[in-house]
Amino acid sequence: MKKIIIAMDGHSSCGKSTMAKALAKKIGYTYIDTGAMYRAVTLYALRRGFIKADAIDEESLRRELPSVEISFGHDAEGCQYTILNGENVEREIRGMEVSGKVSPISALPFVREAMTAQQRVMGSRGAIIMDGRDIGTTVFPNAELKIFVTASDEIRARRRFDELTLKGESPVYEEVLKNVRERDYIDSHRAVSPLRQAQDAVVLDNSHMTFEEQDKWLMDQYLKAAAE
Ligand code: DC
Repeated sequence: MKKIIIAMDGHSSCGKSTMAKALAKKIGYTYIDTGAMYRAVTLYALRRGFIKADAIDEESLRRELPSVEISFGHDAEGCQYTILNGENVEREIRGMEVSGKVSPISALPFVREAMTAQQRVMGSRGAIIMDGRDIGTTVFPNAELKIFVTASDEIRARRRFDELTLKGESPVYEEVLKNVRERDYIDSHRAVSPLRQAQDAVVLDNSHMTFEEQDKWLMDQYLKAAAE
């Protein structure tokens, strides 16, 4: 089997990462969550006070970005977590505060440039599944397999609501739905690398699919692409 690059793009909260992680584990590939990288930069900017109520202090973020180091670690159960300058920030980057600010931060061209460069290095040896918004269009336009995942916004908000509740947060469904819609809008309308389906991507709408059905669908796509 060829060692390929699998680009998984799509809307927020459509289960991309769950599917991608499951496949990576089964086939021994490295999973890279690029959304976590944008979330880590957002957390950094929040902590440094660069995100104000009505503006982002772009100059300060641009100046400090070279010293923002993002990597991934694995706990005893094999679960991946995100490391920001040596600190495990996995829990914090998934909360509502970071979720509410990550789209404008990820729309900044200099942030995208820095993350894209890091992602290309991470994926340079192949045998990776990279999940994000612009992997098949910008980061790895030559990826052997491109998947574009989507589901209805209400179903995605419900999934995100359940995820936050499980983590002990007390989300309000309407707010989660609003956040999902706002992120869709900003992600699809930004000037640099907007979220869009690559022409050669295979589309998966998993609104009404079980985990087993989508895992099997994805495995079939992988087997086909890696055999070619
Ligand atoms: O996948 P996620 O919801 O954790 O992503 C968080 C945000 O980061 C989302 O609003 C879109 C942005 N993002 C991006 O612009 N490009 C990527 N490759 C991955 C995520």
